[in-house]
This record gives sequence, C-alpha cells and structure tokens, in this order.
Amino acid sequence: MPAPAPTLLPNQSLRWGILATGRIAGIFARGVAASRTGQVVAVGSRTAASAARFAHEHGIPPEHTHASYAALLADPAVEAVYIATPHPEHLVWVERAAAAGKAVLCEKPAGLNLAQAQTMLAATRAAKVLLMEAYMYRCHPQTAQIVEWVRAGVIGEVKWIQASFGFHCAFDPASRLWNKALGGGAILDVGGYPMSFARLIAGAATQTACAEPLELTGTGQLHPQTGVDVYAAATLRFPGNIVAQLGTAIGLNLDPTARIYGTEGWIEIPHPWIITQTTDTLELRLHRQGSAAAEIHRFPTGNVYALEADAFADALRADADTVPAMSPADTLGNLAALDRWRTALDLR
Ligand SMILES: NC(=O)c1ccc[n+]([C@@H]2O[C@H](COP(=O)([O-])OP(=O)(O)OC[C@H]3O[C@@H](n4cnc5c(N)ncnc54)[C@H](OP(=O)(O)O)[C@@H]3O)[C@@H](O)[C@H]2O)c1
Repeated sequence: MPAPAPTLLPNQSLRWGILATGRIAGIFARGVAASRTGQVVAVGSRTAASAARFAHEHGIPPEHTHASYAALLADPAVEAVYIATPHPEHLVWVERAAAAGKAVLCEKPAGLNLAQAQTMLAATRAAKVLLMEAYMYRCHPQTAQIVEWVRAGVIGEVKWIQASFGFHCAFDPASRLWNKALGGGAILDVGGYPMSFARLIAGAATQTACAEPLELTGTGQLHPQTGVDVYAAATLRFPGNIVAQLGTAIGLNLDPTARIYGTEGWIEIPHPWIITQTTDTLELRLHRQGSAAAEIHRFPTGNVYALEADAFADALRADADTVPAMSPADTLGNLAALDRWRTALDLR
C-alpha cells in the first residue's frame, strides 16, 4: 500500500525534493526559494557529482543529497517531488513517486502522448497523490486576467486566437531537443504552450474550463538527420466557430506572442509565456472596438516558478484533487491535441 498523500498544514512549508539536476531544475529550485510556501529539502540525481553540485548551489544538506532518483523518493523528509528529467523519463518517475506517496509536479509535457498521461494519472489517482503538469504561465495573474476578460466578454465573442512559441537552438543530435529518443522536437518541447493557451481561451470564451478542437490540421518541417520536428504550424477550429493559428519551433525564432480577436476588440499579449529573463514588467494591451488607443494593463513579472510552487502548495494545503491552474483533465486534453498535431506531421 502506498503511504497516504501528505497533507500540508497551514503555515507549514512544503518540503520539495528535486528529481534531476538539469537546467530547469535549478530555475525551479530558485523559484521555490522565492515562494511563500515551500523549501527545497532534497535532491536526487543519476550521479553523486551532479547531486553534490546541485546541493551546494541550493543549500541542501548532505543527508538529503541522493545519488539516485530512487533514494530521493525514499527520503521521508520529501513531501512533494518536482520531476525535471527529459520527457521520456516523466512517466516512470511519476509512477514511482506516486507509489512512494509523494505529491508530484511533473515538467511539461507530462508524457510523450495521451496514453502516457492517462497511465500516470491512473497511478496518481490510485495512490491519492496530487499531480500537476508544470505549465507555469498558467499560475501567473496575467493569465488569470486574460481569462477573466474573455469570460466577461470584454472583447465580445472570441473568434480568432494566434499564439506561438519558437526559439533557435543550434543543431546537436545528442541534445534532448534534437534527439528523438530523448523526446526531441518543437511540438513536445514548446508547442504545448500555444496549444494549452488556445484551449484555455476557447474554453473561457465558451464558458467551459478548456475547449477541445473539433478540427486540427498541421504541417511542419522534420530534421533530415534526426527526424524531429524543427518547426510546425497548426490550425484549429473550436466550438463557437473559434479558429486558432499556432506556431512552434526549436530551430527558428518565432515571435513569442499571443493575440485574441473578438467581435468587439482584441487583446495583445507580448509575453504570454512569462519567461522571467525577458522583462521586469508584463503588459497586456486591450484594444476596444472604436477606441484609438489601447488600454495598457501592467503586471510585475515576478518569479513565475515561485507562483507555480505556491499554486501547487495551496492546492495540497486545501486537500484539493487538482491544481486548478493546470488540472489533469487539462493535461489529457492538451496531450490529445498534441498527438493530433504530431500525427499531422507523421510523427509518433
Ligand atoms: N517549464 C519550463 O519553463 C521548462 C523549461 C525548460 C525545460 N522544461 C522541461 O523540463 C524537462 C527537462 O528539461 P531541461 O532543459 O532541464 O533538460 P536538461 O538540462 O537536459 O536536464 C535534464 C536532466 O534530466 C536528467 N536525466 C535523466 N535521464 C536523462 C537522459 N537520458 N539524458 C539526459 N538527462 C537525463 C539529468 O539529471 P541528472 O544527471 O541529475 O540525473 C539531466 O540533467 C523537459 O521535459 C522540458 O520540457 C520546462
């Protein structure tokens, strides 16, 4: 029998264990340090040297510095595990974390496909532990503001959504981005951002949590050597005659913005994914029909990973089944849509 899921008592800091020590693991650990609810108490790595380096950087004591992921999961000091391996390793470590009775925040994409996400959700439900896929932008007040405007009809009926996330990274067949065995490719790495955004906004526009596309067509370019998708586009139709155009890339800089067009105006979102390095202040521009100037709404960028850690801890504290910002149902819908997008490019 798995141990019961940990319940976070009010005013009690959530004790995080970090599983894997790559780039995002360090960024998230600094986010936890800046959060109001948590602390990093332990780390696990495949090697003792990486675990020790990470522990030194983040002030983790030697007794909680583990030279295997299994040892991290066996550490009783850890209440919640943050999984930061490449995507193909997510499923197995979510399952093992759940079996160890740990609440789980898993990096995106939760799985390589819908079937993997279903399997991990079944595992966390059976173990009665909280699971969230780490789409951090969902936890920022800017995203909540956009959803509120759309639900309230501030731009009338939403008809068109545009969103993209693409960056240029030099080709390296050994890196996780360019290597199929490591889950490489644009759609899985960052295509999930515009997809999850379009589903969220179409859902808000039709007064549901998230909408699923009725139609999806996609195209893109595969790398001639490793076969991963270098850049890709998708066109979707949602209920309510809402059309979305999405772009993603790992080998091309795409304007990382979003726009939502309605019958009575439009919303311009220069920084929808809230990558903290880019700017200290986020700006939403609300263009109302007939008004010459946009209304500018500003938000402090803050640390979106701290907000994510807090959203997770708040849900745990409230004994909730899901983290509302990114529920498991939302994860399933997103991976189902990403499966369709990848299938359109003949990717499996
Ligand atoms: N939410 C975000 O903002 C964000 C940003 C970037 C990435 N991500 C996601 O986070 C995950 C990790 O991305 P990353 O950029 O941090 O990757 P990374 O720098 O390559 O680090 C991945 C880590 O996973 C561990 N690992 C386990 N099996 C591995 C294998 N077969 N090959 C290589 N490393 C392996 C390694 O840690 P040890 O050596 O310690 O075991 C490695 O350092 C991905 O799923 C990605 O989509 C999310």
